[in-house]
Amino acid sequence: MNRKFYIETYGCQMNVADSELVANILKNKGFELTDDYKQADLVLINTCAVRDKAEQRIIGRLGFFKSAKRVKPTLKVGVLGCMAQRMKQQLLDEQDVVDFVMGPDTYKRLPEILENVENGERQLDVILSKQETYDDIKPFRYNENKISGFVSISRGCNNMCAFCIVPFTRGRERSRDPKSILAEVIDMKNDGYKEVTLLGQNVDKYNWNDGEIKFANLLEMVAKEVPGMRVRFATSYPQDMTDEVLHIIANYENVCKYIHLPVQSGSNAVLETMKRGYTREWYLNRIEAIHRIIPECAISTDMISGFCGETEEDHQQTLDLMRQVKYAYAYMFKYSVRPNTFAARNLPDDVSEEDKSRRLAEIIELQNDLSLESNQKDVGKTFEVLVEGTSKRSEYRLHGRNSQNKVVIFEGDKSLIGSFVDVKIESHTQATLLGKLVSSCVDES
Ligand code: SAH
Ligand code: F3S
Repeated sequence: MNRKFYIETYGCQMNVADSELVANILKNKGFELTDDYKQADLVLINTCAVRDKAEQRIIGRLGFFKSAKRVKPTLKVGVLGCMAQRMKQQLLDEQDVVDFVMGPDTYKRLPEILENVENGERQLDVILSKQETYDDIKPFRYNENKISGFVSISRGCNNMCAFCIVPFTRGRERSRDPKSILAEVIDMKNDGYKEVTLLGQNVDKYNWNDGEIKFANLLEMVAKEVPGMRVRFATSYPQDMTDEVLHIIANYENVCKYIHLPVQSGSNAVLETMKRGYTREWYLNRIEAIHRIIPECAISTDMISGFCGETEEDHQQTLDLMRQVKYAYAYMFKYSVRPNTFAARNLPDDVSEEDKSRRLAEIIELQNDLSLESNQKDVGKTFEVLVEGTSKRSEYRLHGRNSQNKVVIFEGDKSLIGSFVDVKIESHTQATLLGKLVSSCVDES
């Protein structure tokens, strides 16, 4: 009987993609995936270290698997990803449930590590690589609905934003060979996928062969290669996002009209202490370029409240910028000190917990209004929707997303799952658009 593994993934889309690589490595070693940890011989937790809260949650899960190990003492537990990379040996020292710890660049060594673990040795491998892009590993796409999936185009980040742990946990920025990216996208097409999201911490820094192929070129290559598939990407960086990229988005119907452009703060003083490398004016200029070049584009963002030195006036500037941009959606966080980052080493965490929470609440409240406003504007419009599934409540209620990445709910037959349909929007909530099926489009792929 095959040995079974169970895997939990926390944090970003890149982690989802990484877990799919790990799953393939294990499958090739004769392991079978199970979604029931009780059946598993091996439990893997792919972790996030971006905020303390994310790490606390993982510590909680480790406690849970400690009990599972009491019931099944042969169970092995491995911690992967950013928290593994950040804590290294400390994780083995503090958590006796953990058998091995592996950082994001070491997954190819998994078979060897497991062998040593089987021999009773606890293992640590957290060497970061300047080259590893896992080109030669085909992801085992167990996470996905076989309609929409991820392809990573670059790994690591060189930006060194003052608050961010990612450059420390994921290492130096490196781009993946466009040939292997295209091959993976073509595989997805052949497997019936209808949407691909290209992933990088900063996609705009994609650079193959000293500038021979930049992100705009890559995006165009992918868009041309799979005209029957939607192409998305994340994450864009305000400093590096060029008009050239915007023109590619505008020129190719299958490139989605949606950009996630994290701003973090609306105050120049805070942006400077954050070492973001752009000003509010620069950011607003990028927003203006998006509206000019891609009028139907939706924009979302990330926000941090209560970063070091943030005053009430800075916070007001953030709210003001949000009102100006009118984001369709936002991911909003309270600043959380991450060990070893520039901010942790050099800047006092001087905004009180109370102020951080209140400012975050104000940001969320405003965004809720802006999301409603953005959705209200879509009422009466007809969108092409990629149908992704049925709602939990009724199998006749389908959900999917439009090009702008908004969730659309409407009535239809579940045979439509996986196809593109036109839906006319009749009403909305803060989080979704509600509509009526107009017609099913011809599937050209
Ligand atoms: N470039 C990455 C960013 C990864 S971190 C990407 O692909 O999205 C995701 C978001 O977490 C950041 O944009 C930021 O808003 C938030 N974040 C990062 N470090 C944080 C910290 N120390 N405290 C609070 N939020 C943080
Ligand atoms: Fe983090 Fe800034 Fe890179 S937020 S991932 S250091 S772009």
